[in-house]
Amino acid sequence: VFSHVVQAPEDPILGVTVAYNKDPNPIKLNLGVGAYRTEEGKPLVLNVVRQAEQMLVNDQSQVKEYLPIIGLSDFNKSSAKLIFGADSNAIQENRVTTVQCLSGTGSLRVGAEFLARHYHEHTIYIPQPTWGNHPKIFNLAGLSVKPYRYYNPQTRGLDFQGLLEDLGAAPSGAIVLLHACAHNPTGVDPTLDQWEQIRQLMRSKGLLPFFDSAYQGFASGSLDADAQSVRMFVADGGECLAAQSYAKNMGLYGERVGALSIVCKTADVASRVESQLKMVIRPMYSNPPIHGASLVAVILKDRDLYNEWTVELKAMADRIISMRKQLFDALQAKGMAYKLLFILVIHCTPGDWSHIIKQIGMFTFTGLNTEQVAFMTREYHIYMTSDGRISMAGLNSRKVPHLADAIHAAVTS
Ligand code: LMR
Repeated sequence: VFSHVVQAPEDPILGVTVAYNKDPNPIKLNLGVGAYRTEEGKPLVLNVVRQAEQMLVNDQSQVKEYLPIIGLSDFNKSSAKLIFGADSNAIQENRVTTVQCLSGTGSLRVGAEFLARHYHEHTIYIPQPTWGNHPKIFNLAGLSVKPYRYYNPQTRGLDFQGLLEDLGAAPSGAIVLLHACAHNPTGVDPTLDQWEQIRQLMRSKGLLPFFDSAYQGFASGSLDADAQSVRMFVADGGECLAAQSYAKNMGLYGERVGALSIVCKTADVASRVESQLKMVIRPMYSNPPIHGASLVAVILKDRDLYNEWTVELKAMADRIISMRKQLFDALQAKGMAYKLLFILVIHCTPGDWSHIIKQIGMFTFTGLNTEQVAFMTREYHIYMTSDGRISMAGLNSRKVPHLADAIHAAVTS
């Protein structure tokens, strides 16, 4: 009965790891998935996570019972404070409902399912480009996905005018997906002034913000600074949704820990919204897993662990920034930075190479095209997504010359 089933393609991001794992060549380098690696090229379990795990092991009161449908209460409260700020009016007025979900993807999906059932407008505008999973998540939840201009390949910066025009032309009430910080894949974020203009435009048109916050702490190294965009929208008293992931900033990738918050106008509305979120979650996966959320709750509630976490987070962010600098220097040292940019970017302003170090977060959006990426994989065993995105978090000092060689060959051959 299944003989008609056709082979599906690998996922454009996770499939890169599948291909990498099959490659027997020892020089191979995986810059596909956005997962942090140490300078030794190894996955990192944060010290605070190890400590929290030890505390949980020693705590005899820890059991493996089902969590409530909306997850661990301490985790939800701490997550809301982390993104909205401990002094947030919306939290103090109980206008926020937060539910534990399966990392960022699960939070987006639960939010999208809720909107499809209970929100009058079913169109969601997503930035062009965006994380490859976004359109799939929203489509499958029953929303209709439309792009808004975001990235300008000529300037390698934000297409702010295009963004304002497209959101300005969106039907009133439409949902708008916003990357809270460290836009994936471009590494290009609006400035705070631009965020303020986006906020004013969206509020004046009644557009509903849906934030994806997967990199809080990774853009600037500061958890508060990276939540500014979200907090601006909450401070004005309006509604919004926010999906949080602890995959990157706590290194809890495989634990699938995240949260969806919906900020409402009143506490009463928030409570009814929460009751409907339970109706979404229960038939989907019943209730979320306990371990990862317990770790996050321990870390967020313990002042010492929290402080130690911010130090470890900053160290990860700093290593990524240092990789940007080293790659930039290596390309310049080869005397080819100018050539690289000139070849890759039609009309690129000659002499301005700074975008490599200006981009924010885990990724560099190189501008390498599909053929050049395929060439680098074939000839240099360097794995990356076909849109030319490089995970800087997967790079280390020893591999920088190899990557610079590969880029050089790709753009000159
Ligand atoms: C990425 O963009 O590489 C990450 O968000 C991992 C993923 O799930 O795609």
